[in-house]
Amino acid sequence: MIPRIAVVALLHTAIAAAVCTKLEDCQQFEKLKTNDCQPFHHFLARGSTSPYPGHLIETVGKVCDQLNNGTHPNACGYEDVEYWAMNGGERWCKSAHEGAMHGAEQMRNYTERCPDSHLIVMGFSQGGSVQLDVLGGGGGELWGCMQEENSAMNISSAPGSKVAAAVVFGATRRSANQPFTFGGGEVSDGGAPRTAEQNAGLQHYANADKLREYCQPHDPICAPHTQDTDMKYHLDYFDKWGNEVADWVIGKAKAAAGDASYGDTTSEASDLLRKGISHPVSSVFLLLIVLFGIFYGVKRFAVWRISSPRYAAVSTTEIA
Ligand SMILES: *[C@@H]1O[C@H](CO)[C@@H](O)[C@H](O)[C@H]1NC(C)=O
Ligand SMILES: *[C@@H]1O[C@H](CO)[C@@H](O)[C@H](O)[C@H]1NC(C)=O
Ligand SMILES: *[C@@H]1O[C@H](CO)[C@@H](O)[C@H](O)[C@H]1NC(C)=O
Repeated sequence: MIPRIAVVALLHTAIAAAVCTKLEDCQQFEKLKTNDCQPFHHFLARGSTSPYPGHLIETVGKVCDQLNNGTHPNACGYEDVEYWAMNGGERWCKSAHEGAMHGAEQMRNYTERCPDSHLIVMGFSQGGSVQLDVLGGGGGELWGCMQEENSAMNISSAPGSKVAAAVVFGATRRSANQPFTFGGGEVSDGGAPRTAEQNAGLQHYANADKLREYCQPHDPICAPHTQDTDMKYHLDYFDKWGNEVADWVIGKAKAAAGDASYGDTTSEASDLLRKGISHPVSSVFLLLIVLFGIFYGVKRFAVWRISSPRYAAVSTTEIA
């Protein structure tokens, strides 16, 4: 029994090690990108300087994998929040405001065209901050610049009323001590806190159990006031919470659709195995795991993974 569990755990690591940010590197997700009306539609906001669609595409993939089926192969998909995703001085504030305005407008446009669709809001890093701005209202000083204000999205009228679930990872502007924070990061503000009014805007979505903000201690972007900050804690949300988040979103999406036939949403090991193998880069990692993982142990593998060129290519300044 123990060896089987170990292999499943390593497989998780393999999927995360190969986290895909650029669509041409993970073409199995290309079919999910659409502007068409569909029952479950993600709005995906990437992190600073990331290519579209960004670090969350694999999480979207996990959600859609459970919502699409033979009868409805396009029930679930995504569109990118189109924005600059740039940082460095004034650029961050300009970019984040553009994301907040555009993200909300894309949701309004989509809901007007597709009034029966359920919306799923996701964002990472600057994109996480952008999505919190979209829902709760945004603006204010951050990192030496002044972001223009935008108003909150009313949860009682479309498109806010169409939001089935919203999840952000490692958001830049966020406040400590919010009840919708998961992962231990409630001990710290982000790069700047949100105003009481902005948090109140978010609280409407939290009260409806539609909002989760993930932030962990040691993440220099969302929890800079914790000790021993390290960029690796900004980049392993997908590894640590990707499956948990996908299960939660799937449950919310199904509940929003009111389908009583939807029951248990727990991912099975066979699903993970299938996803791991269908991912070309993961297959290589799978081989490496068989060769090295069992002998050198998970810890040694993790150290090697972080120091590998794939990780080294992502510097602190590139993502926020
Ligand atoms: C197929 O997916 C659609 C949309 O998610 C859902 O309404 C339907 O119940 C699913 N069918 C089966 C057999 O699971
Ligand atoms: C929303 O729709 C309007 C009218 O079709 C269009 O001009 C605008 O560019 C759209 N906005 C976005 C963000 O797609
Ligand atoms: C939000 O929408 C509801 C329903 O349309 C409306 O009654 C309410 O006045 C709106 N709130 C704000 C602040 O616009």
